[in-house]
Amino acid sequence: MTRPLPSDQLADSAFLKAARGEPVPHTPVWFMRQAGRSLPEYRKVREGVAMLESCMRPDLVTEITLQPVRRYGVDAAIFFSDIVLPLKAVGVDLDIKPGIGPVVAKPVETLADVEAIPDLTPDHVPFITESVRQLVSELGGIPLIGFAGAPFTVASYLVEGGPSKEHARTKAMMYGAPDVWDALMRKIAGIAAAYLRVQVEAGASAVQLFDSWAGATSPRDYREHVMPYSASVLTAAGELGVPRIHFGVGTGELLGLMGEAGADVVGVDWRVPLEEGVRRAGGRAVQGNLDPSLVFAPTEVMLGRAAEVLEAGKAAPGHIFNLGHGVLPSTDPDQLARLTDFVHEHSTR
Ligand code: CP3
Repeated sequence: MTRPLPSDQLADSAFLKAARGEPVPHTPVWFMRQAGRSLPEYRKVREGVAMLESCMRPDLVTEITLQPVRRYGVDAAIFFSDIVLPLKAVGVDLDIKPGIGPVVAKPVETLADVEAIPDLTPDHVPFITESVRQLVSELGGIPLIGFAGAPFTVASYLVEGGPSKEHARTKAMMYGAPDVWDALMRKIAGIAAAYLRVQVEAGASAVQLFDSWAGATSPRDYREHVMPYSASVLTAAGELGVPRIHFGVGTGELLGLMGEAGADVVGVDWRVPLEEGVRRAGGRAVQGNLDPSLVFAPTEVMLGRAAEVLEAGKAAPGHIFNLGHGVLPSTDPDQLARLTDFVHEHSTR
């Protein structure tokens, strides 16, 4: 299967230009978790449909992915899915519980548990191929960002059995059972790479690797126990010829390594001043980094801070405006609409 050639309009989009570090007419903007619970139109279409089921229905995936694009006029769409979807697709017994997150029925402990997880093939996810194709044709010149969960973050859900603050069991495996850890991280890296390939071959024009919880590791442990596996996913994605965004939360001390792992764009959370994020990204483009809570501030306060982010972003070869993490569920969509307009109107590079 060959990837459809991007239209000129797509290749010339502000989002893809910024990701490649080329001059842009305005700073592109999109929001992590822009599709989802903060939108009334999302809650409406999700009524009576479980989260994972909605990810497997191309009609719903298309509609939900398009909702924020229609509402805000953002510069990119993020594929509506979840980081645990590919695990579900290969047969891991898990669910996404409302208000909790992914919950795994039988957490991974042993080498046999890892070996029982099948590798992912396109046949496991025909609904992803169909959803991406449908979306790309409806999006026209607007880029679609495909995504996968990075090995550490996905391993945490598999080993802990659910959301965790300390990731203690995960680290216990990392330090105490290196052979099991290596097998698990390789397994997840292979699944993530295959999952990204399916999305790009169906027409996604960029990918984001979400390592949301990597910030729980020290640079030393990240380099030794996490980075090689994320690098293998990013290297495989690089062979597909699309820009790669690498994002984590609380990863200030890891930004340099996350760039070196093979990112074209380094995602910066709000804890790191963007000027500093730009320095740590080592000559790469950056994405971020307004505090997601600033949408609850008076509009002029939020926009004042957005102006500072735009200014700081000018020092990078490319800047994609985003929040420092996902849109919080109680966010007023009108604030995001104002923010999107502001970024478009106040950014000349
Ligand atoms: O960004 C988008 O708008 C696209 C969709 C998207 C979802 N999950 C939909 C979702 C993306 C990119 C993700 C990635 C994801 N999932 C990450 C990495 C990004 C991040 O936020 O750090 C992580 C860690 C997960 C795991 C996960 N899934 C969590 C922590 C939760 C939230 C639990 C809760 O309800 O508080 C989910 C569920 C989830 N994924 C929802 C959505 C819209 C909410 C489910 C619902 O609507 O009932």
